[in-house]
Amino acid sequence: MAQSQRKILVTSALPYANGSIHLGHMLEHIQTDIWVRFQKMRGHLCTAVCADDAHGTAIMIKADQQGITSEALIDGVRQEHMTDFNDFLIGYDNYYSTHSEENRYFSNRIYTALRDNGKIAVRSIVQAYDPEKDMFLADRFIKGTCPKCKAEDQYGDNCEVCSATYTPMEMINPRSVYSGATPIEKESEHYFFKLPDFQEFLAKWTRSGTLQDQVANKLSEWLESGLKEWDISRDAPYFGFEIPDAPGKYFYVWLDAPIGYMASFKNLCDRTEGLEFDDYWAKDSSAELYHFIGKDIINFHALFWPAMLDCAGYRTPTKVNAHGYVTVNGTKMSKSRGTFVKARTYLNHLDPQYLRYYFAAKLNASVDDIDLNLQDFQQRVNSDVVGKVVNIASRTASFIGKKFDGQLASHVSEAEIIQSFVDAGDMIAEHFESREYGKAIREIMRLADVANEYIAVQAPWVLAKDEVTLPKVQEVCTVALNLFSILATYLKPVMPKMVEDAEAFLGKELTWNNRSELLFGRTVNKFKPLMARIEQTQIDAMIEEGKQEAEAEAAAKEAAQPKTVETELDKEPLAAEVTFDDFAKVDLRIALIAKAEHVEKANKLLKLTLDIGGETRTVFSGIKSAYKPEDLEGKYTVMVANLAPRKMKFGLSEGMVLAAGPGGEDIYLLEPHSGAKPGQRVM
Ligand code: MSP
Ligand code: ZN
Repeated sequence: MAQSQRKILVTSALPYANGSIHLGHMLEHIQTDIWVRFQKMRGHLCTAVCADDAHGTAIMIKADQQGITSEALIDGVRQEHMTDFNDFLIGYDNYYSTHSEENRYFSNRIYTALRDNGKIAVRSIVQAYDPEKDMFLADRFIKGTCPKCKAEDQYGDNCEVCSATYTPMEMINPRSVYSGATPIEKESEHYFFKLPDFQEFLAKWTRSGTLQDQVANKLSEWLESGLKEWDISRDAPYFGFEIPDAPGKYFYVWLDAPIGYMASFKNLCDRTEGLEFDDYWAKDSSAELYHFIGKDIINFHALFWPAMLDCAGYRTPTKVNAHGYVTVNGTKMSKSRGTFVKARTYLNHLDPQYLRYYFAAKLNASVDDIDLNLQDFQQRVNSDVVGKVVNIASRTASFIGKKFDGQLASHVSEAEIIQSFVDAGDMIAEHFESREYGKAIREIMRLADVANEYIAVQAPWVLAKDEVTLPKVQEVCTVALNLFSILATYLKPVMPKMVEDAEAFLGKELTWNNRSELLFGRTVNKFKPLMARIEQTQIDAMIEEGKQEAEAEAAAKEAAQPKTVETELDKEPLAAEVTFDDFAKVDLRIALIAKAEHVEKANKLLKLTLDIGGETRTVFSGIKSAYKPEDLEGKYTVMVANLAPRKMKFGLSEGMVLAAGPGGEDIYLLEPHSGAKPGQRVM
């Protein structure tokens, strides 16, 4: 059956270049890769591109903390990401970076088109600014005390405790997470994309079959409540592309990120004979364009992106396919539980195809979350892949090898069962095409059960005992191996390496279309075990490594931020001289220790609640080795009341108590004379 060859371009969301790939990311890349391998196997011209998303403040800050340039950081991370994907058998045709000349070119071009079409507005806005780092601060880079419920250590836009929303400057004691400085307000010009102008276009586009219904419904709510202009500029310093007609202003990372799809593809076109950029991106393109993304980034891909593309004279995506989030054992991936598993950590213990199979078995076309239940994972892979599929070949190949010198029968009497397996391929293909991988896998496993039952009924091991029935053994095993080859064909997009080994054994390259070319009257090669079972110890070791990594990471973070570590009372040379005036600035007050508590996981700290006369302060103090909390409550001491608050690992410390001593059990809190009153100034 001749089908016309489709031209398809596929993308996965571009991972940020400031962290490792984890199993959450892998769901997306596995989902994409299965689809792409399926299309290629069907004979279509399918191209898959991805890239690292290399711009933005987070990357700039991380590089700064590591004392390297942003370029060096993103180069290193990209290499790591590429190796991870490669080892997970994810086969992008190009894995590029948004920090590329191609991306600068398309970003400028699209921006200029939007501007020339009157879709860019410029106006001043007031934002929080870090006066020490000399940079504007996005809300999530500010922390402080909630103005409503007084919960400490909340982000600059909303309170996780009472859900209040506010601006950073409305917080009590807002601080820059970079420098600890108190942010000031500063005005600057920003560039906005006039998204509301696309209201009508988007209302139509989002309902044109490009999105899942669930997603289109969600977007309808936003569209009905009215779209807002989108801020696409950021002030220097920023790691990104400078806006061509606005020196000192940079494109916001999310402007050039999706354009990175184009850039990665263009980079591939430039070194691939016959692959033309315009064939895929021109407004009248007949090629198909698919984006695979997670549910958290739908608005960028289904609102801003199509509006930008359409306005700048490019085609819009054929489909935006959103998937849900990965959970592990029913809950969010967690570093402390060891379930925030990095791709590399997984690979250190397990074959990538196990996870590819498990995710495939659980994936469908919805945006529902996918749970990686580790027990179910082990059990399902072992029983389906090893116990059912591989078993078909391992039970029969040895007879062909030993008794028939690798020679298959030249014809068989029960060809109908083989034909039924061939026929099932059309439905399985439809499931893959529509991203219903779970349904495809269920059908494949149903067939595997049929094959195993056939073998069990025929019982070649019984037939082999008798010279008379020996020829029948060859026939039965030939049928079984044909069934196996068809199942391997269907599983090839999911487990490419295992099927490659199966192809080497069968001496046939398996494609969707040649599955009906049966293996009769020819030889097969020596059979080698295709896949081992997952052992519990492998999973345990992976989780243990995940835990250790998380601990090491936490420790490194602590070490990198001296401001937030527990202080050590160490021997230091005398510090520089201070004037009396300097010293007089220190506001020492009598404090009543209203409460003293242990701090979970802290080795040296106690958390003190100090009453300084109508005002209470929380202070973390490194006196745990010398005092029991219950012995401190109700006692008086002296505190530095005007010390700038410091963010510590365990919370905000709003001052300091005075103590002295060599350390260990010998630390002595300063005790005022009896009759002192909380809040009295000392000195
Ligand atoms: N850089 C942006 C995407 C730009 S696309 C033009 C970004 N990067 S990300 O690294 O945070 O996420 C990349 C993809 O991984 C997103 O599609 C995101 O939804 C997906 N996932 C990240 N964590 C995930 C899970 N725990 N589970 C499933 N997918 C998850 O967003
Ligand atoms: Zn609050």
